[in-house]
Amino acid sequence: MISNHHQSVMFTESIDALNIKKDGIYIDATFGRGGHTCGILDKIGENGRVIALDQDISAIEYAKDNLMDKRLKVIHSPFANMYEIVSQLNLVGKIDGVLMDLGVSSPQLDNKERGFSFNTDGPLDMRMDQTNGTSAAQWLYSADEEEIANVIYRFGEEKRSRHIASAIKKHQKDNVIETTLQLANIISGVVKSKKNKHPATRSFQAIRIFINQELNQLTQALEKSIDLLSPNGRLAIISFHSIEDRIVKRFIQKNSRQKSLPKGLPIVNEKIKKTKLKDLGKKFASKDEVKVNKRSRSAILRVAEKSK
Ligand SMILES: C[S@@+](CC[C@H](N)C(=O)[O-])C[C@H]1O[C@@H](n2cnc3c(N)ncnc32)[C@H](O)[C@@H]1O
Repeated sequence: MISNHHQSVMFTESIDALNIKKDGIYIDATFGRGGHTCGILDKIGENGRVIALDQDISAIEYAKDNLMDKRLKVIHSPFANMYEIVSQLNLVGKIDGVLMDLGVSSPQLDNKERGFSFNTDGPLDMRMDQTNGTSAAQWLYSADEEEIANVIYRFGEEKRSRHIASAIKKHQKDNVIETTLQLANIISGVVKSKKNKHPATRSFQAIRIFINQELNQLTQALEKSIDLLSPNGRLAIISFHSIEDRIVKRFIQKNSRQKSLPKGLPIVNEKIKKTKLKDLGKKFASKDEVKVNKRSRSAILRVAEKSK
């Protein structure tokens, strides 16, 4: 049986971070199994609204089967399209909060047919949106050694990237790589295992990020997010590894830093002083949460508020 359970990470902290108003309009950009969406629905009143997105069709089907609420609109879409969606709904500048809980959900990881896990054998797919794009197996077949090495190095920060790419291409001379365990075994042949960490952890993360264009998605969504928000609207973003956290951190810093004026120049225009965002800081999961949900160990929640 395929599990549909996902334990929401930093639930209380992220819902609090949105500073929810009864009649507010919120976007949950990463619906998953709807834990955070339900947290928002619990706090808004009759006139509040939630727009929930996910690029995984199974998340959308789950929502349709399990969450009947007239205040909720669920849309199958990558979150990079958030601005276009909000614009079609005539809600640009009216969104009171956007929540993004990045990465994959437990049902995605636990379902071996999705190909995200190096612990169970399944087709090497790794697409969050199974209706679109190239699977990891197809990509590994068509990419050359250098491209594979670069992806594994860049998105997995894996020092053995060149050796892994070379082992993959050597294997492909006589065999195709079709399953997760085939790939995990090739990687295990060239990367030493470390305590508590499977040798393929970094490579699988890297290939998943590349296949789903996760960093491009995040950058595009962030770039247009400020325009969507109402004055004092909030952004709350939970990331799970340093590469995506760096993107969120730099975005918030860039938009919350005051432009310095040449010394001695009088401030004639208040707009020069104004920044687009106010940085409300970052939080980690509590020790208690980490004890019961291992996934929260690497979570970082960053929060920012749109300036009035
Ligand atoms: C960590 S889970 C979210 C869990 C959710 N907050 C909950 O409480 O159930 C991440 C979800 O975001 C989706 N996702 C990841 N990247 C996405 C993107 N670029 N666009 C839309 N959905 C995305 C994944 O398909 C997955 O279902």
